[in-house]
Amino acid sequence: MSTVLEFKNVSKHYDVSRNISELLTGIKPKVRAVDNVSFKINQGESVGIVGESGCGKTTLAKLILNLLEPTSGEILFESKNINKINTVDEIHNFKKNLQFVFQNPYDSLNPRFTIKDILLEPLKSLKYRETDFDNLISNVMDLVKLKNKEEYLYKYPHELSGGQLQRIVLARALIISPKFVVADEPVSMLDVSVRAGILNAFNQAKKSMNFTAIYISHDLALVKYVCERTIVMYLGSVVEDGPTKEVISNPLHPYTKALVEAVPVPHVDQSHEPLPIIGNIPDATKFYEGCKFSDRCPNPSHDCKHGNIKMGLIEAKPGHWVDKCCINCK
Ligand SMILES: Nc1ncnc2c1ncn2[C@@H]1O[C@H](COP(=O)(O)OP(=O)(O)O)[C@@H](O)[C@H]1O
Ligand SMILES: [Mg+2]
Repeated sequence: MSTVLEFKNVSKHYDVSRNISELLTGIKPKVRAVDNVSFKINQGESVGIVGESGCGKTTLAKLILNLLEPTSGEILFESKNINKINTVDEIHNFKKNLQFVFQNPYDSLNPRFTIKDILLEPLKSLKYRETDFDNLISNVMDLVKLKNKEEYLYKYPHELSGGQLQRIVLARALIISPKFVVADEPVSMLDVSVRAGILNAFNQAKKSMNFTAIYISHDLALVKYVCERTIVMYLGSVVEDGPTKEVISNPLHPYTKALVEAVPVPHVDQSHEPLPIIGNIPDATKFYEGCKFSDRCPNPSHDCKHGNIKMGLIEAKPGHWVDKCCINCK
């Protein structure tokens, strides 16, 4: 299978304003939002990225979409470094192939445009033939399961519900048949009752268009529904990566175990173990010599506690990778 996207030791650090630690140590604080991340994504894969709020998921999405430049490392899309594309053709190709769905549909759409104008925008900017416009709009409305299409086209975003708007956001991303779609928490702002509909539309579109997908969520239960592979992030680093079924049924990292425990169970009488991690959400500006999870690990090994093991993934089982420090903490 061919690799579509590759992260090679990618970091994105944000400078943050002066704080007490800078005054004491003289070192300018940084948030290591994405910290030395490497992975490859193959054509047609759907990959979930999970982790708690602040672990760097949105920064990672923005790096993929070239909305942010990495502090270091390389991001290759179809073997080309996306930060070095500059010819008109390359930019056109990049926009045509990579689309996104962001978290908040209310923020993603121009309130002054009708739904039709919103859907026409990508077609016009990528210079599609005008004679194809109506057909493409009609097809994509079917794809995202918006019935009575004509009814929507001349409405404005404020006249639609959150669920309908997110279908329009999805339609706008899919209308140009992209090869790759990045969806960042696309249902987290929506009522639980409409989430399943959007996820089904996403899954069915993926099946019929066969795009490669990155689906970002803090909720492992949603990722399980959409993705065959899952990457778990903690404080800007990848700590586990493997087939979703395997990651959920046999999590190897204590943090992944905690995420699995946090998934609600359908029966009230089924008991829940308390989360097996300790401590609070960590300080994103803290620098760790060794394992970033050592502060919260329920069973740290001697080397883990003393920061002797640098972070990095090892293949514990075929296709199932986990941070090499945490596999020893049992
Ligand atoms: N523009 C920014 N400037 C400084 N810090 C930022 C900026 N954007 C995000 N961060 C910080 O980077 C970390 C990762 O944020 P983000 O990528 O939004 O995580 P997530 O999407 O997983 O919640 C957080 O600690 C966040 O506060
Ligand atoms: Mg986010």
